[in-house]
Amino acid sequence: METVEKSLLERTSVRRYERESIPEETMEFIFAAIRNTPTSYNGQQFSVIDISDQALKEKLYELTNQKQLKTCNRLLIFCSDYNKISLLAQKKGLEVPEFTNTMDGVIIGIIDASLAMMSAVVAAQAAGLGSNCVGYLRTVDPAKVSELLQLPKGVFVVCGLALGIPREHPDLKPKQQNSTVFFKNHYTSDNDKLVEDLSKYDEEISHYNATRSGTTTDNDWCGHILEYYKHAMQYQILDYLKAQGYDIKK
Ligand SMILES: Cc1cc2nc3c(=O)[nH]c(=O)nc-3n(C[C@H](O)[C@H](O)[C@H](O)COP(=O)(O)O)c2cc1C
Repeated sequence: METVEKSLLERTSVRRYERESIPEETMEFIFAAIRNTPTSYNGQQFSVIDISDQALKEKLYELTNQKQLKTCNRLLIFCSDYNKISLLAQKKGLEVPEFTNTMDGVIIGIIDASLAMMSAVVAAQAAGLGSNCVGYLRTVDPAKVSELLQLPKGVFVVCGLALGIPREHPDLKPKQQNSTVFFKNHYTSDNDKLVEDLSKYDEEISHYNATRSGTTTDNDWCGHILEYYKHAMQYQILDYLKAQGYDIKK
């Protein structure tokens, strides 16, 4: 098992995997880490669909064009889930408040599922696996993904996580420096310094993209991310949430 320091500081997304299977005891470790994730109210408002069926992985690949979905050994899909507590409440004759129909209800489910995914990422890294979060499972055709996974009302896809024995070791991607991430006691009011430091980061990423091992690009950071945002504005997430039984009122 890798140290916590190495697992956190040397992690990169890995999108190419060996054909071998992940040992079941390693998956059990990842599941235990997922289950022990801190969650809002200890409500554990998440579930995970564990996919090993190759035909299903291929279908998900066809929808998203994310090759790692069919080449990974295991694909975990993290969902926000209010179905479970609603079922138990029904059995106990308890009224379920319309919490799912609030922004906070939606946010909490997303936070819980995301933290659970992060537990899996760190556990997988510590166990020597490669992982890659796949948001396209939520954005490209979430209705079709939900149909394939037979998600009931109250459950929606937050993100996928492809896992496998690593077949590549990508260069560590530079991240924003401390000065643009951590503000002491209050948010910075020095926008000039903020923009200056962000510009340095923009240059650092441009350099990384131009010189990294594997495929190189001439992408900067800011412009490239804004292109993603532009594209993401086409996603119909509100409609998807409605279809999954969410009616956000406040
Ligand atoms: C919520 C989320 C969704 C992501 N979706 C995708 C995806 O659909 N496809 C992909 O190749 N990488 C995806 N990534 C991986 C990011 O591109 C990656 O984490 C980022 O570029 C930083 O690189 P690093 O993980 O190597 O540090 C996603 C990451 C997160 C956290």
